[in-house]
Amino acid sequence: MSSSTPSNARPSRVTTTRLAELKAAGERIVMITAYDAPGARLADAAGVDSILVGDSLGMTVLGYDSTLPVTMDDMVRATAAVSRGTSRALVVADLPFLSYQVSVEDAVRNAGRLLAEGGAQAVKLEGGSEVADLVGILVDAGIPVVGHVGLTPQSVNVFGGYKTQGKDVEGALTLVDDCLALEAAGACAVVLELVPAELAALVSEELTIPTIGIGAGAGCDGQVQVFHDVLGLGDFTPRHARRFAEIGEAIIAAIAAYAGEVRTGEFPAEGQLSHLDEAVLAELERALPLTESED
Ligand code: KIV
Repeated sequence: MSSSTPSNARPSRVTTTRLAELKAAGERIVMITAYDAPGARLADAAGVDSILVGDSLGMTVLGYDSTLPVTMDDMVRATAAVSRGTSRALVVADLPFLSYQVSVEDAVRNAGRLLAEGGAQAVKLEGGSEVADLVGILVDAGIPVVGHVGLTPQSVNVFGGYKTQGKDVEGALTLVDDCLALEAAGACAVVLELVPAELAALVSEELTIPTIGIGAGAGCDGQVQVFHDVLGLGDFTPRHARRFAEIGEAIIAAIAAYAGEVRTGEFPAEGQLSHLDEAVLAELERALPLTESED
């Protein structure tokens, strides 16, 4: 630390170039999703490198059964909340379905909103070679882009379900070409979702930009997981996830304890209330009509 750096200075925010440095140094990158300020604050405090405001918010927070109904306004509001909750992690925000597929103008404006209004440092979009030109345009506009290949949930209806991709030679070669096209277009990283581990490891060796895997094995340069899956906040745990805690059970127990104490009258107790001054109480009782006693 230089002599001009205050001892209480916050650690500086992780940048997209830092992700490349981590890969070059052989250090694994940790990314987790978050959708609100409290969740982001906890993830930031835990020291993750990056927080993804995923459009998985459609399922985890908004109660939809896919990411497709998520809107730009949903993403901007969640991204701004996550940005307010972080000081260190790189914030990456998803471009939701139809926010970048219709026109280049829409894509630039919507990606720009996630940075300008949401405070993200990068956006993520789904697709390979078919979105490479767009990635180049966004990067030229000053918007860092994370790619996303393999199982891309916005195309779930094309895939016919949430299935592992790139399992045959043709599919695997296409996935490699997609990643190379994204890298050549200027993407700063690429998410590999539901890709066989051997293929993900080969791609990770081939690329200079970091790969961030989910359901793609430990050969990726980093991992991303969904907040609710890691914390045990949902009923369903996908095969690629591990519950590192059972926070959902802890929440149910805490709310049940609260409900119990409300019903017995134990809560609120002395520590959770305030009192009137005796003089004020006496004057109030004089001013109010006395309730007639029945006996
Ligand atoms: O939306 C999301 O959470 C994602 C991750 C699964 C990579 O895109």
